[in-house]
Amino acid sequence: MTLSGSRVLIIGGTSGIGLAVASAVAERGATPIVASRRRTSVDSALAALPAGAEGATVDLTDDASIAALVQQHAPFDHLAYTAGEPLELVPLADLTADTVRTFFETRFLGAIAVLRAVAPQLRAGGSITLTSGTAADRPGAGWALGASVCGAMNALTRAFAVELAPLRVNAVAPGVVRSPLWSSMSEQDRNAMYEWVAGAVPLGRVAEVEDVALAYVYAMEQVHGTGVVITVDGGTVLA
Ligand SMILES: NC(=O)c1ccc[n+]([C@@H]2O[C@H](COP(=O)([O-])OP(=O)(O)OC[C@H]3O[C@@H](n4cnc5c(N)ncnc54)[C@H](OP(=O)(O)O)[C@@H]3O)[C@@H](O)[C@H]2O)c1
Repeated sequence: MTLSGSRVLIIGGTSGIGLAVASAVAERGATPIVASRRRTSVDSALAALPAGAEGATVDLTDDASIAALVQQHAPFDHLAYTAGEPLELVPLADLTADTVRTFFETRFLGAIAVLRAVAPQLRAGGSITLTSGTAADRPGAGWALGASVCGAMNALTRAFAVELAPLRVNAVAPGVVRSPLWSSMSEQDRNAMYEWVAGAVPLGRVAEVEDVALAYVYAMEQVHGTGVVITVDGGTVLA
């Protein structure tokens, strides 16, 4: 299926992986519609994308805000959901109900709220691509939260693939990706992490956002795969 002429909504499309997905679909002749919390992120993303791209702010905890986004920018052919925050390393002693709820808010509950509003609006032949991560299959110590949300996204992908068929519902599971997600770390710590990952994975380097964006594009363009989690991790889960 060609993306040319299609409309692709990307929640979290103003930075990192989502912005790379927006650029990739625009290169293929689609109109990306990028949405996230902050107006400044939306404006800088629109400045980086080709003319014709659309953008909006959205509050994923507010159904009315999501409905307004849909009303202003529908119709859509494809949805990619890449909104999320950095993996939080939380040892069991600090794993309170509040910490868990906060972490699930954007990646899991936000995805469900967006699907509730957007899935009925997707045109025939459309698709949904969610975001998981290799933490589900290869957690380290202290990764219970990150691993759980990724595992939950994998399960959600399969369940909605059944419930929403003939829409296709898939997910992309990245390993560590060089993106603004890690900008709260000091440059030194961040580079040390990238170097450590590059040394540990079979492909010998950290993923770039463009590498991962190709998997979202594939999930939209292919026509017979659903309920699939596409791992793009340089072989992390094998190492
Ligand atoms: N980078 C990695 O190594 C990696 C690895 C595995 C999985 N992932 C997952 O992949 C997804 C994308 O990561 P990334 O690297 O592209 O991160 P990023 O560059 O920080 O981008 C995250 C995007 O999500 C938006 N966002 C964050 N919280 C939001 C909220 N509450 N409501 C609406 N939008 C929100 C941000 O914009 P605003 O700030 O304007 O809201 C931004 O556009 C995340 O779910 C991340 O956990 C990333």
